[in-house]
Amino acid sequence: MRIVLEGNINRIYVQSLCMMFFHGEKFPENEKNPRGEVKLRLTENERDILCECEFTYDLKTVKKDSYASLKEGEARERTIKRAVGKAVYEAGRELTKKDIPWGILTGIRPSKVAGELLKREGYQRALEILKDEYLLSEQKAKLCLKVAKNECEIIDAYDNQTCSMYVSIPFCPTRCTYCSFISYATKKLFNLIPEYIKKLVLEIKSKVQAINNLGLRLISVYVGGGTPTTLNEEQLEMVLSAINSSVNKNDLVEFTVECGRPDTITEGKLKILKKYGVNRVSVNPQTLNDEVLIEIGRKHTVNDFFDAYKIVTQEKIGAVNTDLIAGLNKDTIDSFKSTIDQIIDLCPDNVTVHSFSVKKSAQILRDDSEIYNKNDDIAKLSVDYAYNELIKNGYEPYYMYRQKNTICDLENVGYARKGSFGIYNVLMMSDNHTVFGIGAGATTKLVKKTGEKTQIKRIFSPKYPYEYLQDNRNFSEEIINYFK
Ligand SMILES: C[S@@+](CC[C@H](N)C(=O)[O-])C[C@H]1O[C@@H](n2cnc3c(N)ncnc32)[C@H](O)[C@@H]1O
Ligand code: SF4
Repeated sequence: MRIVLEGNINRIYVQSLCMMFFHGEKFPENEKNPRGEVKLRLTENERDILCECEFTYDLKTVKKDSYASLKEGEARERTIKRAVGKAVYEAGRELTKKDIPWGILTGIRPSKVAGELLKREGYQRALEILKDEYLLSEQKAKLCLKVAKNECEIIDAYDNQTCSMYVSIPFCPTRCTYCSFISYATKKLFNLIPEYIKKLVLEIKSKVQAINNLGLRLISVYVGGGTPTTLNEEQLEMVLSAINSSVNKNDLVEFTVECGRPDTITEGKLKILKKYGVNRVSVNPQTLNDEVLIEIGRKHTVNDFFDAYKIVTQEKIGAVNTDLIAGLNKDTIDSFKSTIDQIIDLCPDNVTVHSFSVKKSAQILRDDSEIYNKNDDIAKLSVDYAYNELIKNGYEPYYMYRQKNTICDLENVGYARKGSFGIYNVLMMSDNHTVFGIGAGATTKLVKKTGEKTQIKRIFSPKYPYEYLQDNRNFSEEIINYFK
């Protein structure tokens, strides 16, 4: 597709708007005879912005104009986005007859926009603006505001002298076909685990030392992956005891291990988690449909999930989260409904409903290039069903993010009962919280506040375990200098 712009318009934003209507669309430069073309012209004066749009696809053309006026407290860039978004959205909708529930909010954190509106305008006006100006459906506008309210409460509860730590265990028992996370899943690569653990333990200790030197309080630790419980008991004990013995237990509010795959969970491993103070775990079925589990190459059964869930609750670890995915291949609305109903019957503290996202590096895209458009309606109905049933049963949506190339541009939402919100999930996305990333593929995000000004610096650890093992940099000094 070709994009032709006149005026101060962000090309990437226009591309993401176009992709809402034409999934998987590419935008090569100098493309001859493209199937689609979007021409935009922006005219602006001090107060008002006009965007004229001509959207063509397969020889059919729709023209739409849109105006937006600067509001008090709104950045000019956001006003321009509203004008451009509305023009492209309305033209795209007429061309394709598709309704996009998130309107012109294409970003990964719609609740950030909602939170700003909530603070500036109050609930009722924020709801109107999301519907009328950002073109969200009523349900998504309400969802977004509910999440924003809960996110703000968590973010406001922790000042910038607090921080979190993410520990990466990029190993899995086998590879699921939809997944693009970097994770080693073969016997040969498992040979790296002992060396990896040794290095990880040293890094945990040196980062906690840096945190103490900076006078920060470590309030949450998240051990994720991959699948941390791919490690055997001895390896798991080495990692968790290193964390437990270095951190200040009076400060630590949340200590999560994302067990994830039911086929890696044993009584022995859970006893170790408990011994070292873990108080939040995930056990993830993704779906309670065996046929779909086979389709996504998940290599465990529905019964394996129920067995693992039972062990976790018997050990009384603390909060339990279950991850689900809506819109998976071969899933039907009836089987998704049944998954949600059975999960609600188990009463987990948290339920995270992801929408199926088509990742470039996932095996499934190589096998099925039509995947984008197949499961749209099922995915939409599934996330709506999950929202309604979970709310009816006392859960609240408390964090949310969106990813590129997700079916129908839908969202991922964490639901929890009041009092068991997972704080790491919210804080790691906020622009107010420092996170120390440890291990391969982890990101460290340093947030420095000087008066009203916030500065953010990101440090990326080597992506793959073998690179991590060869890397001799120690970022502790760089981190301490940054805060000085
Ligand atoms: C770090 S991943 C995996 C955690 C753990 N290894 C497991 O598989 O249970 C966290 C979650 O992201 C979700 N996820 C991963 N790939 C996805 C995709 N392509 N589309 C939607 N959700 C996805 C899954 O629900 C998964 O449990
Ligand atoms: S979904 Fe989880 S278990 Fe499957 S490959 Fe990805 S990280 Fe590993």
